[in-house]
Amino acid sequence: MPRKDLSNLKRTLEKATRKFESLGGPTEYPDPVVFCTEKLSLRPTEYQTKVLMDESKFLALRWSRQSGKTAVVSARLLWDAVRQPGTSIAIVSPSLRQSKQVLGRIASYARLLPTSLVSAIQKTRLEFTNASTIEAYPNNPDTIRGPSLDIVYCDEMGFIRNDQELYGAILFTLSSAKNGRFIASSTPGSKDNLFYKFCTDAKYGFSNHYVNWRDAVEPNGPLKREILEVIRAQLEPDPWRWRREMEAEFAESENSYFPLSLITSAIDESRAYTDFTEYISGKRLYVGLDFGKHHDHSAVGVVEHDPTTKMAALIHMHKFPLETEYGAVIGYVKRLVSTWKEVRKITTDETGIGDVVTEDMRNEGLRQTVGIGLNIQTKTDIMENLRNMLVKKELKLPYDPELIGEMNAEKFELNKAGQIQFSHPSGTHDDQLWALALACHGLREESRVPEYHPVVLTGYIIKPRIPYFTFGKEPWKRDPLYNQTARLCMACGARRPLTMPYCPKCGSGSDGPNPAFVKP
Ligand SMILES: Nc1ncnc2c1ncn2[C@@H]1O[C@H](COP(=O)(O)OP(=O)(O)O)[C@@H](O)[C@H]1O
Ligand SMILES: [Mg+2]
Repeated sequence: MPRKDLSNLKRTLEKATRKFESLGGPTEYPDPVVFCTEKLSLRPTEYQTKVLMDESKFLALRWSRQSGKTAVVSARLLWDAVRQPGTSIAIVSPSLRQSKQVLGRIASYARLLPTSLVSAIQKTRLEFTNASTIEAYPNNPDTIRGPSLDIVYCDEMGFIRNDQELYGAILFTLSSAKNGRFIASSTPGSKDNLFYKFCTDAKYGFSNHYVNWRDAVEPNGPLKREILEVIRAQLEPDPWRWRREMEAEFAESENSYFPLSLITSAIDESRAYTDFTEYISGKRLYVGLDFGKHHDHSAVGVVEHDPTTKMAALIHMHKFPLETEYGAVIGYVKRLVSTWKEVRKITTDETGIGDVVTEDMRNEGLRQTVGIGLNIQTKTDIMENLRNMLVKKELKLPYDPELIGEMNAEKFELNKAGQIQFSHPSGTHDDQLWALALACHGLREESRVPEYHPVVLTGYIIKPRIPYFTFGKEPWKRDPLYNQTARLCMACGARRPLTMPYCPKCGSGSDGPNPAFVKP
């Protein structure tokens, strides 16, 4: 070989070596803890260090809120990507939005690295010059099964709806990797969830890490004392939630009206709340409104209903700050109605001040507003309807931890008369739950098939609130069930709520007697 070519080759080789060194080959970051402290300015706590150093194939982190699970796993994944060329890493969580947030956290760490290491930072994907990638995935087993992955991280695993199926897909895709790993982190959710088994059943072979608020609070962990006090004030009235989210125990009250497993089964990973700016078409919308001012918040929930698939979904939820004027709440709903034209019905809580505000709303041109007085019977009816929709899988919810907490905190008890009495731990809120329940109630009322019944024949009690001449202008009021709360029994004349199919006194119903009726 001519001498000139040889020196050219030598120079090229030297250049390549320099470049490789600037990329930070494996020798530069031998240890994830050093990597965190020196490159990411993140000084891991003792329990975070244990996770960083844990090389197990399967890891489960059952940690309390704000203890730094997402932070430490993000850092470790970044280290894995940088150190091992060609590593494919996936992030899944109950919703794509949440997965993107985790990816955003990793991206913010990646920005601290030399630019020569990272080739692209996108919303759902990070690419590295050593051909490693980190990608945010929706919670969809089919999408996970597709690519061959080396590491999968599942954040808030305890709240994944189709966890069995997803885990199956993860195992499938990891089976072809040489050093496949799976990391799950979560605050405890329902005991029906796989995450519970990972944490408690040795058969699954997970390396378990458990951290509660005492471990996570300053100076040992990142949980600031003032944040702890805020969380304490928020959760203390609901001891079960405190135990789950801060003690990181799998604890759930037996008289939760909406068990966590039921709520989790309704979470639709692809959904996020819809913003005013987004356009909606082909759907019917139902608004639920719960009023509050000094002690409770006003909350508005919007449920969309697809008449062809008969599926409903919560698409919007807004909780107003305390002391918000009712006028502002009405203004918000007006804007909502003018943007999304298809609002069929606005159902409000007419109890107390709600009566006046509901009237105001109608006067303000929101003619589809219907107030409902909440008493023990209507409350049961409305809550039962929401629960039924969840049980029958007719309602989808986006992943909203606050709403999940509110729903699960709703307790029930049977009183002496056999009626269901609902209660919410005092000091906690259930405004969003009621906004959702009222919207679903409005939906059901409207989707009942209107039939024409002469008043005398059916025994419907017509409240004289709707002047008959409004019928033509406001078609929803043509429904004979509109604004009705009770009917009379055709056999004995007793009064009963509309939702009760059989008479409580004599047991007869419109389709014959109640087979389960026992004479009092
Ligand atoms: N080792 C640490 N040092 C300093 N701050 C940290 C550390 N670990 C986490 N944090 C911070 O604590 C907060 C909570 O962390 P995060 O990972 O979001 O908690 P979790 O996912 O457990 O709710 C974040 O602001 C994060 O930046
Ligand atoms: Mg987190």
